[in-house]
Order: sequence, then structure tokens, then C-alpha cells
Amino acid sequence: MLLLTLESSCDETSAAVVRDGRQVLSNVVASQVDVHARYGGVVPELASRKHLEAVVPVVAEALDRAGVTLDRIEGLAVTRGPGLVGALLVGLSMAKSLAFALQRPLVGVHHMEGHILAPLLEQEIDFPYLALAVSGGHTHLYRVDGIGRYSTLGRTLDDAAGEAFDKVAKLLGLGYPGGAVMDRLAAQGNPRAFDFPRPLLKKDNLDFSFSGIKTALLYYVQGQTGPIEGQHLQDVAASFQAAVVEVLCAKTLRAAARTGLKRIVVAGGVACNRGLRQAMTAQAQAAGLQVTFPSPALCADNAAMLAVAGNAYLEQGVRAGLDLNARASWPLDQVEANTAA
Ligand code: KG4
Ligand code: ZN
Repeated sequence: MLLLTLESSCDETSAAVVRDGRQVLSNVVASQVDVHARYGGVVPELASRKHLEAVVPVVAEALDRAGVTLDRIEGLAVTRGPGLVGALLVGLSMAKSLAFALQRPLVGVHHMEGHILAPLLEQEIDFPYLALAVSGGHTHLYRVDGIGRYSTLGRTLDDAAGEAFDKVAKLLGLGYPGGAVMDRLAAQGNPRAFDFPRPLLKKDNLDFSFSGIKTALLYYVQGQTGPIEGQHLQDVAASFQAAVVEVLCAKTLRAAARTGLKRIVVAGGVACNRGLRQAMTAQAQAAGLQVTFPSPALCADNAAMLAVAGNAYLEQGVRAGLDLNARASWPLDQVEANTAA
């Protein structure tokens, strides 16, 4: 089945054309990063407006790059939630309009479901597997028993990992979003220069907490008399990243040990982080576990990632009506009931 997929949950407008839920023919992403950077975070109203401007050209470009015309599209999948409601509605309205005009089936997909199934666009991975989803809004450990069959094993009790990277980058005057900048600086720094806390590391559970690391860094910055720059800045970035990565790896390996799952998928924007990729790969290998990271373009928000679940649901006969609505907050565990509705 040839699917057109649409993603607009936050600050990226994306459309993709994917065959059989596996072969990506195009995956176009229009980022609004420059629009929001001057405000230090995503401004929801601006995001909605920018999605409105971008959605038609992005769909046209996705079709163009895939070399297909609209009439060849056999079904549509769209991010239904979670995310910014005004942003989600733009993708949903576009998808519903196209489904109605073309008389093609439509299905709504959970954004995190897209992220944790994204590596299947590049390689086969047998179910069940453990997924660490790390993005700007989520830090969750999920058990993935199949498409549409997810359970939450652990989650952050405060900030998401990406949010912590972004807040710390802002504190250090590195702009927004700061995850990728921190990653680059950390590569040049000494991860043992500063001993930032590892919240909940010793606690025998699968939950995370990142606000304490951020606060420790805030106090450190406030205690300085001059600006933090050069090698000093690189050492701070490396030490912060080391603390976040250590907790992410430890809890993921603990979850694998507890569940007996042998395969790990790390997904979401923070899965681009080189420190996390290196540490998780080394530790998983040492524990005899298989670990997979999607390539960076499939880690960050994109529409192609929705095609794995979208294609499977459409093949199962799941159909969303034209009353399909956005769900700003939507736990992944509840996806089955809602998608089938
Ligand atoms: O999945 P994503 O693109 O959007 C959400 O659904 O949130 O994730 C975006 C997050 C941002 O917080 C961004 O700073 C972070 O991923 N990020 C990174 C890196 N690249 C993106 N964090 C750490 N290291 C990176 N290389
Ligand atoms: Zn995302």
C-alpha cells in the first residue's frame, strides 16, 4: 500500500510517501526552529500558523520527490497526538481533507508510536523489544510487544531528557533548541570535570528525573563570576551530558534485565546524541543485548516514522472517520483502544 503520512505535533511540518510501511520514497521536513529560537522555546500559536503555511508545499514536495501523483496514494496516516493541539489540527485537517477528496482510508497514529517503530523502516527487528523514547516531551521506557501493543515500564517524573538539554543550553547562552549544540561541545570536553547528580540512579525503579541535574548546573553557573566559555564550557557540557547518559543507560539496562528483553531500540530526538549512542552501544554489547538507533533523520520528528503503524492499522481494516480529533495528551498504553475506535 502506498501511504501519504503527515506529522505536525510540534515545530516540524512533515510529509512522507512510504510503500508497505517499510520503503521510504520521500520524507520532507520543514523546520520552524528559526521562528521559535528568538523566544527560547516553541510558541504554540506561531507553530500553528507556520504549519498552515507549510503543509501544502510540504505535501507537494513529498509527492514530487517520491515521483508519485496524489491519485496514486492509497491511504493516509497522520499524527493524532500527543502534541500542541493547534499544531496537530493542521496535519489532521490536511489529512482528512485529502482522505475525503481522494476517497482513501485514513488512520490516526500516536507520535511516540511513530518514534519507537521508526527503526523498522531501516531494518527488521523482532518483537518484543524494549524502547527508550527520549525526546523534547518524553523520556519513557516502553515494552513493545507488537504494533499497537505497548506498555509503559518507566518514565520521567519531571523534565524530559531533551527538555533538560534545551533548558541547560539556554542557561549557558547556547540558544534554542540546544541538544545538538551541547552534544557538539560535550565531544570536546571532559565528562569527569564536574560531578553533577545522577537522580534516581540508585533507586530501584525504572523512572527518571532530570530537573535535579539542571538545578545543580544552574547553581554552578550562578556561582561563577565570569562567563563560562571555551574549554570550561565544553567541560560543563560534557559533565552534564555524562550525568544524563549514565542514568538513561543504567535504567534501560535495568529494564532489560527485569523484563528479560534482549533487544533495545532508542528513539526520539535525543537518540541523535553521540554520547548516548556510544555509551548505550558499549553497555548493551557488554550485557549481550542488541541495541538499535534509527539514523538521525528518523530520530527527529518526521512523517515517515508514522507509516509503520499506519500501514499495519490500515491493513487490519482500522479506519478513522472524518471526526478524528487531536489528542493533546494521550498515554501510549491507551493507543490500541483509541486507534481502533
Ligand atoms: O523527537 P524530537 O525531534 O521532538 C519531540 O518530539 O520532542 O526531539 C527534540 C529534542 C529537543 O529537546 C532537542 O534538543 C533534542 O531532541 N536533541 C538532542 C540532540 N538532537 C536533538 N539532544 C541531545 N543531543 C542531540 N544530539
Ligand atoms: Zn518527537
